[in-house]
Amino acid sequence: MSKTALVTGILGQDGPYLAKLLLEKGYKVYGLMRRYSNPNYSNLDYVGVTNEVDFVEGDMTDEASILNLVRMLQPTEVYNLAAQSFVKASFEQAKVTTEVNSLGVLHFLNAIKFSSPTTKFYQASTSEMFGLQHTNGYQDENTPFHPRSPYGVSKVYAYWLSVNYRESYGLFTCNGILFNHESPIRGKQFVTRKITDGVARIKLGLAKELRLGNLDAKRDWGFAGDYVEAMYLMLQQDRPGDYVIGTGEDHTVRDFVEAAFKSVGISDWKKYVVIDPQYKRPAEVPALKAKPDKAKRVLNWKTKVSFEELVEMMVKADLKRYGGK
Ligand code: NAP
Ligand code: GDD
Repeated sequence: MSKTALVTGILGQDGPYLAKLLLEKGYKVYGLMRRYSNPNYSNLDYVGVTNEVDFVEGDMTDEASILNLVRMLQPTEVYNLAAQSFVKASFEQAKVTTEVNSLGVLHFLNAIKFSSPTTKFYQASTSEMFGLQHTNGYQDENTPFHPRSPYGVSKVYAYWLSVNYRESYGLFTCNGILFNHESPIRGKQFVTRKITDGVARIKLGLAKELRLGNLDAKRDWGFAGDYVEAMYLMLQQDRPGDYVIGTGEDHTVRDFVEAAFKSVGISDWKKYVVIDPQYKRPAEVPALKAKPDKAKRVLNWKTKVSFEELVEMMVKADLKRYGGK
């Protein structure tokens, strides 16, 4: 009998890449989406799997809808990607961030515990949980957490709850502690896509400037298409566990800006970039860099797309969207 997966956050960035991977592996894929008058399938369309996903309606904040879905579908695997995932917004909308990112996970874990205890559960944990902490300049599975935003705090709760339900009730739960991963379907609020979209518009004469916040922040940026493979691999192991997933390389936001402008032949990028305090955060995570040794050793996983390839892929896609070459 073929495996079934319930993927939450199906309309976001990671959902479509993961759905594609699971469909290629023969899974029946259910995609959880909220109720909309006009759903936006553009990310699934971009990846080319809209017609192959079976959509089910529910909301992370609605306990009964989650319980009903788990009971009805009895999925082999749940990949919980749904979240209020924009760090900046979590400072202004801390409650909804907590309800979706923390309580939503409680709803799923209880649903699995009570009605489908053999279902394996993937939790989309994040390097934001590390915040200010590092171990000799890196973060790995043993680095303590010190989150710097309501988003980070909400994800620490979800992380520990997933560990706790594994230890208390023997559920197969895995935390993927993923570092920043990007793609041509990344939301435009996130800095990478904001930059590649802005650079494409400037190149084509559709915009004159790009307004950004802190250019000194360092992130470990990889390609989302590589990272969903790690999610899948975690749930295929004999034993559940938690894994740091990243490239092991970091770059500043400034590096990303420079590389994006360079990819369209603009070297004097400084004349287009305006620093705007509204894009700075009350508390910042200054530097994230993964040490993904466990993922390499146990999952045989490593990133394939380099930083330069990622920047170029995203700029090209945005140029194409605006009708450029
Ligand atoms: P994303 O593009 O923001 O997608 C999140 C999805 O969650 C959206 O489709 C959203 O639905 C859905 N969602 C939000 N609230 C919901 C609710 N109440 N009920 C049901 N669905 C809801 O995020 P992503 O980049 O794909 O990331 C996937 C997951 O990985 C997230 O949990 C994120 O926190 C985590 N993560 C991401 C990264 C990264 O660098 N991308 C790194 C580490 C961890 P709508 O379409 O309706 O808004
Ligand atoms: N969004 C944004 N917009 N960020 C900016 C800007 C700007 O104009 N200017 C500078 N930055 C800086 C932010 O201050 C931050 O240090 C860095 O760019 C990256 O910001 P985002 O792209 O918004 O991502 P993030 O690192 O805060 O969070 C993302 O990665 C996490 C994993 O580490 C999100 O995808 C989270 O959901 C994810 O958990």
